[in-house]
Formats: sequence, C-alpha cells, structure tokens
Amino acid sequence: MNHKIIRKKFKDFFEARGHKWVTSSSLLPDDPSVLFTTAGMQQFKPYYTGQADPIKDFGLLNTTSIQKSMRTSDIDEVGDESHLTFFEMLGNFSFGGYWKKEAIKWGHEFITKELGLKIDYVSVFEGLPSAGIPADDESEEIWKSIDPGISVKKANIHDNFWGPTGNEGPCGPTTEIYVNSALRQAQGKPPVEVWNIVFNEFFYPGSREELLSGKSDKKLTKLKTLGIDTGMGLERLAMVAQKKKNIFETDLFEPIMNSLPNHFDLRTKRIIADHSRTIVFLAGEGILPSNKDRGYIMRRLMRRIMALNIPKDIIDAVIDTYADQYPELMVKRNEILGVYSDELTKFNKTLRGGLNELKRLEKVDAPQAFKLYESFGLPYELIKDFAKDKAKGLNREAFDEEFRKHQEKSRAGAEKKFGGHGLLLDTGELKAGNEEELKKATRLHTATHLLHASLRKILGNEVKQAGSDITSERLRFDFNFPRKLTPEEIKNVEDLTNEAVGKDYKVTKKEMAYEDAIKSGALAFFKLKYPAKVNVYTVGPEDSFFSRELCGGPHVSHTAEVGKIKISKEEAVSAGVRRIRAIVD
Ligand code: GLY
Repeated sequence: MNHKIIRKKFKDFFEARGHKWVTSSSLLPDDPSVLFTTAGMQQFKPYYTGQADPIKDFGLLNTTSIQKSMRTSDIDEVGDESHLTFFEMLGNFSFGGYWKKEAIKWGHEFITKELGLKIDYVSVFEGLPSAGIPADDESEEIWKSIDPGISVKKANIHDNFWGPTGNEGPCGPTTEIYVNSALRQAQGKPPVEVWNIVFNEFFYPGSREELLSGKSDKKLTKLKTLGIDTGMGLERLAMVAQKKKNIFETDLFEPIMNSLPNHFDLRTKRIIADHSRTIVFLAGEGILPSNKDRGYIMRRLMRRIMALNIPKDIIDAVIDTYADQYPELMVKRNEILGVYSDELTKFNKTLRGGLNELKRLEKVDAPQAFKLYESFGLPYELIKDFAKDKAKGLNREAFDEEFRKHQEKSRAGAEKKFGGHGLLLDTGELKAGNEEELKKATRLHTATHLLHASLRKILGNEVKQAGSDITSERLRFDFNFPRKLTPEEIKNVEDLTNEAVGKDYKVTKKEMAYEDAIKSGALAFFKLKYPAKVNVYTVGPEDSFFSRELCGGPHVSHTAEVGKIKISKEEAVSAGVRRIRAIVD
C-alpha cells in the first residue's frame, strides 16, 4: 500500500463521512507564538474558539486535511528509527459537528477495515483532579462497546492531553491508537502510536508549559462548542501499513535513501534524508537560510548535511518523491536548488575552516564548542557529528548555557557602549555609527514601540513582533498578521501613532524581574531568551500606558522628540508576516 493510496483512502474515507477536504496550510503559521506549523489543527484554531464560522468557510462543520508539519524539539533524536523534523499529518477535524463516539468509531474503522491493521492497544486520559479535569471514562466505554476485547491503557496529562499550541488556545484529553506489525513485533519492537484523537473541550489562556507546570493561576474554561482534532503521522502509518521495520524503509524515504552514497552509516543516511526533506519544503515556502528564527533552523539543517559533501541530487530526489502531492515543488525546483547552491558556497567559504579547526582539537567541551560556533558558525549538531568521541561530554544544555552567557554579555556590552562615549551602537536591532545617527535611530526606536502598540490597538492583539531593524534612516518592523493591511488601516495606525507623539508622553525605564514585567502587561519578543532581570520601557502613565515593552533601549525621554511618523511601505515578508517601513521627520 504505497503512500499515495494511503492518502487517497484517508481523504475518501472522511469526505464520505461529511468532511470538507482542505489543503495543507503553510509550514509558516499565522500564529506568531510558534515558528512552524506543528499540527493539522493549527489552521483551524479560530473555528474551535468560535472566532470563525466553519459553515461560512467550508459549508460543513467538519474538515479533513493532510498537513505539512515541522517540529524541531526532537532534532537531536533524528537518526534513530522514528524521529523526524518534517512530517505529514493526516487529520479529521470537527467544530461542533460530532464528538467522541463518531471520532473513535471512525478511527477504529479506518485502521482496522480500510487499512486492515490490528490495533495493539489504545490509551485514554486518566484525569487530573487537581486541575479539575476528570478521567475520560466515556472514551474507554466507547472503545469497549466497539471492540470488547480491546486493551485500554490509562495515560497521564503529559501523554494524553493535547495543547494548547502557541501562547493560548483550545486543548483537551486525547485517546491514542497504537499499532504494531508482525515483523516489528518479531524483532521485539514496541507498538507505535499512529493516531492521536483529541477532544477539544477546553480553552487555556496560556501556553502548554504554563498549564503543565501546575503553578499558573490561569484557568481552563469550557469551550462553547466541543471540537475534534486528530493527527496521524503519515510516515509512521506508512511504516505499519507497508510492514516495514522503520519509517526510513517506507516508500516515502526509500528513493531518497537510495540516492545517497553507500559509504555513509545508516544513522547518517537517515539524518541526511530527514534534513533534505525539511530543507526542500522550507525552501519551497520561500524560507532562506539566515541567522535568525526560521532561517536559522534552515541554516542548521543545511550545514549539517553540507559538511558531509552531499551532492545536489538529494534535493532532486526529494522533489521527485513529492512532485505529485506538492506540484509547487516542481515549479520551484530551480529556486530550491539555487537556495542550496548559494548556501553551499557560503559554507565552503566559512565552515570548512571550522571543521579543520575541530580536527585539530583533542577534546571539545562547551566553551570550545561555542567558540567554534562563534568564530566559524559551526552549529552544535555539526560539532557533535564530527568530533564524535572528542565531544562525548558535550551536551546541548551546556552549549545553550554558553550561548546564553554570551547573549547576556553582548547585551550588557551594547548598553555600556551607549552609556559611554564610543557611541557606536549595534544592538542587533539598532545600528548607529556616530552621535547624530544615534539620535535619529533612537527616535525611530521609540517610534517602533508606538507603531507596535498602535498596530495592536487597531488590528488586535494577534499582532506580534516578528522582527525589527533600525538605522538612522528608517525603521523596519515585522509582525505576524495574516493579510495585507487596507489603506484605511495603515492611515489609522499612522494617525494613532502620531497622536501619541502629539501627547508628548513620558518614556520611563524600569528594571524588573521578567515574570513581573510580563504580568505588568509588557510585550516581550517571544523569540528572544531573556535574562531573569529585564528593562521595561513604558510610554505614557503607569496605570494607562500607551505602550510597554521589554527592551534594551535606548529611547527618547518624551514622545514629542520622535517627530512626525510616516509609514512609507507595507508589504509581505512571508506567509503570515507583514513588514512596515516608516520614517520620522
Ligand atoms: N493535534 C493532534 C496532533 O497533532 O496529534
């Protein structure tokens, strides 16, 4: 049963049961609090919370999709039998259309009848009384009524409770289906979780980490409409349906694995196969390798395989494997290959030197690894891969700690420079070469805070900073927002910003504990790691401020100093990210 047949069976099955087929959304989500799309439900978040109407948009209360997804949390595990960075998720979703009985019945029917597989066991949520969430006895009863002999295991909040994704969202208990194949079983391999069926019945106004910490006073509330959200990884499903020992033997990977030179060991081949898929899909969405955010992840993946002298054929092999499902990859073949070649040229110029340096070292600890990263751009994985035994004692935590120490030092350094006399400032966000430039950039910096606040006041709090770059000429502010702004919205934002300038608000700086700063309503740029103590800049009165942000400064002391602000351009940077350029008089 090749992957094309599995895809078709899934689509047909749910279409025949009242679901509207929706194409995969971008790997770059609209949700600013996550870097990548990690699950099929993400594009449907507003339908669970009642902010969007499924009937209006789909003509039905139920949808189904195969979603391109990416998770970077398991990046260090890639190379084993099952971890991946990019994968596809088959999913069926409902926003008040059906509930547990149908979701479980169809899950069972698809796995056992359509695919002819045997369910090894299922798991259900054991409940968490301290958070007021009861055990999911109902799902257990439904499973037993369908198949009296089925083995049902109880699982805790960590395993069988989904969400929220991002900073807040729908969440709820899950039931999971585990399957094994005779071949895997004979080799002593455990059953794999193939399908996660989520019952979205709550809304949580914070992140999953906050929810699981048990320390937050944020409360779960019941969603008005009960929602179904399921996720079934195509690669794992193909593994059991095709009776393979691991995902890399399925037809989703075989052509890619076969295109690799034979001298690589199996683990290396798997890493290359995984990373090259991710690179192709990211490049296909217009992501370029860079030193920030998504681009940085892309660069890490690329450099890791480039260090192995992998020919470009691998990129072609990936595109060919997915050409039918994602024709846009065919259209963009040259563009994707170009991204790969350009990065390879850069790699050869810089990193090769780092690899040579690495060869010379006898032992690599965290400070040395960070130095290699800082001087040559050698990423952690590359160092681990290449130093092998020499870097035995090196782990990600220690490396990250070095990174954090360095960030703190450079932030402190930037402030010192500003406070002293050199007056050459480069904070990453703000660049100025002399006193005059610095004055202008400082006005533009405060203007950026005013614009950010105005954007949120006019367009809503879904606007979140995605980047900022300030020179003495202009400001550039990137933010997450799903569509182009109308001329009227741009004018309203500009007017509101200039109103704040006209009011000549005081700008005050206060050092606070990070937690307190967030509690006081300060906006943080979610992609940065902040130290425990942070500086908070407030524009306007303490109790009814116009803007409040965590920030290293510098800023003007009164908003009238900013001058008149003019938005000169509004454009897209990538899917879901807009860019504003503005100048001040
Ligand atoms: N949203 C369910 C899953 O991705 O597993």
